[in-house]
Amino acid sequence: MKRAMITGWGRCMPEPTVTNDDLASVIDTSDEWIATRSGIRQRRVSHVDNSDMAAVASRHALAAAGLEATDLDYILVATCTPDRFIPAMACHLQAKLGAVNAAATDTNAGCTGFIYGLNLAAGLIATGSARRILLLGSERLTPYLDLNNRDTAVLFGDGSGAVIIEASETDEGIQSINVGSDGNLAGALTIEGAGSSWMDIPSPVQVVMDGREVFRNAVVGMVAAADKALADAGWSIDDVDLLIPHQANIRIIDATTKRLGIDPDKVYTNIDAYGNTSAATIPIALSEAIDKGRLKPGAKLVLVAFGAGLTWGATAIQWGQRVEPKSTSDAALPPSERTGIEIMVDRQRARYG
Ligand SMILES: CC(C)(COP(=O)(O)OP(=O)(O)OC[C@H]1O[C@@H](n2cnc3c(N)ncnc32)[C@H](O)[C@@H]1OP(=O)(O)O)[C@@H](O)C(=O)NCCC(=O)NCCS
Repeated sequence: MKRAMITGWGRCMPEPTVTNDDLASVIDTSDEWIATRSGIRQRRVSHVDNSDMAAVASRHALAAAGLEATDLDYILVATCTPDRFIPAMACHLQAKLGAVNAAATDTNAGCTGFIYGLNLAAGLIATGSARRILLLGSERLTPYLDLNNRDTAVLFGDGSGAVIIEASETDEGIQSINVGSDGNLAGALTIEGAGSSWMDIPSPVQVVMDGREVFRNAVVGMVAAADKALADAGWSIDDVDLLIPHQANIRIIDATTKRLGIDPDKVYTNIDAYGNTSAATIPIALSEAIDKGRLKPGAKLVLVAFGAGLTWGATAIQWGQRVEPKSTSDAALPPSERTGIEIMVDRQRARYG
């Protein structure tokens, strides 16, 4: 069976930026509290649809792989914040890209969505059902944040990351991948007020989270998933050149790093700049790490995540020799007329008066 490998990568971070001090001007919080409890210093707020960000990230990924949109035979979007429930966001994205030869669908595993997406993509490649897959982790979470709820309003941001998955001609690519879920812990992290359960009960839409419960399970779940990915690949932790964990909280990342026994210099973090962009954190971080020269040719890479569900997953990837894009794209979002905090405050007023 063919292994799946990542041959293109790209990201789109919307320009409007909200600092902790911006939030502290409208919420009872402080830069000090947010930075020490979570590691977050700022986040991006999208002024466009999730699928608009996804289209920009996708164009960069296609260029990096040297492909045209018409070469794609499958588009899979990992998201919990699609433009609409129907149709799948992947269909909007397909139209924006002109990817007329692709099947298109979404998958939702909360913040673990990108690892779940990789797992599905690897299966499509292995069975020969698809040959060139566009996979995204893409989220526009800030519309779901309630500025009256400081527990969650300070943690999340918007952004999009894309990869191209193709069949490997060698033994390089995904060496192992595992995903899991415990639905008994579903209540630990939910979006309330949106979905068919809520149609008879008008209710504000908001993220509801038991932060401590999520924190505890996150560390245990990520360590177990990464250990399994390593064991299944026949690697030890010392073999790993770069670990990209889901970016939810720097203290979760630090605790996971310590328990795994990996050198912190090998762990990529960017949570300070973007906050938690759910399924998008890993593909955004991957594309950024490659651009910054943090991923070397032939590197052994581990990706690990956890999220709503509660879900978890990890993969061990033997990277090839190419860490340069085959080509580049100048795709970019239009400028925003409002600042990030203006977007958030206007939205809050529209929703709550
Ligand atoms: C949410 C999280 C940062 C809270 O950190 P914590 O150290 O557990 O903080 P606590 O929940 O103990 O709250 C401590 C105090 O800070 C207060 N607080 C909460 N949010 C605050 C904010 N934004 N600013 C200031 N104070 C805040 C609380 O009200 C509480 O006050 P109290 O002690 O007077 O009751 C942390 O639990 C976390 O990151 N959990 C995981 C969340 C996550 O990763 N979710 C995404 C999963 S994909």
